[in-house]
Amino acid sequence: MRPGDLFAAHFLDHTAPGAPAQIAEQLRKAGLVTLDRLATRTAVLALSSRIMTMSAHRDSDSDGLTTIRCIPRHADRPGYAGLGNGDLAPHTERSGLPHPPRLMLLVCSQPATSGGECLLSDGLHVHADLLEHQAGEPADVLARPRTAYFGAGDGHPTQVFTPHFDGRVSIRLRLDSLARWSPLVLPHLSQLQAAARRHQQPIRLLPGQAYLLDNERWLHARTGFVGDRVHLRGLGEPRFVLPHGFMPASPAPRPTTRPEVLSWA
Ligand SMILES: [Fe+2]
Repeated sequence: MRPGDLFAAHFLDHTAPGAPAQIAEQLRKAGLVTLDRLATRTAVLALSSRIMTMSAHRDSDSDGLTTIRCIPRHADRPGYAGLGNGDLAPHTERSGLPHPPRLMLLVCSQPATSGGECLLSDGLHVHADLLEHQAGEPADVLARPRTAYFGAGDGHPTQVFTPHFDGRVSIRLRLDSLARWSPLVLPHLSQLQAAARRHQQPIRLLPGQAYLLDNERWLHARTGFVGDRVHLRGLGEPRFVLPHGFMPASPAPRPTTRPEVLSWA
């Protein structure tokens, strides 16, 4: 295994006896599993149905999976960057929903001719990084309620870090034109972006290879690409207990009911 090889470090054989329980346990511990032998849509659906209840959405096909490839008619439409071929900034999936899907499975059907690398950032490390700056002020401010608005007109007022009563923290993020920010948060956005990128680790998926992540813990991104890159994506809720996000490196402030911030940049 190469040092820093995220794929090898998180690999599980989903065809092995007891695999669903192993996948569940690794998601609870690390929030990330890598997989292979998912060469067909049937195999992807079979695995998905064992570990999650799939949620259909705007872009999904009739079987619940979404085919992710460059569709030129979507170029430059806000919120459709995933169906283009440009870089994607670190984000969580469906951040504009009140309850985003907990799990995201991304399977490579056909890699790009060049580029198209997946980049993953562990929210635990991003959060810990921000705790080390300015006595933790960026992490604290980014956890204040309703300091972000993600999505278009039907989006959701929220915050980047959501503390829970059990001490755990969830992350949700988008950095495109459908993110609006409270003036409180704006001074810390560059630090957030820098931390998210500093902790990015690449995964170059080959056909049939995949990653499965906890969408409350890991940020995902993509480099721009050339060629007919095709991936399948499944979103859904786990068929097992999965505590929120991650346990932070330092105790997170308890959830509060601070006054709402009603203006966003
Ligand atoms: Fe995404």
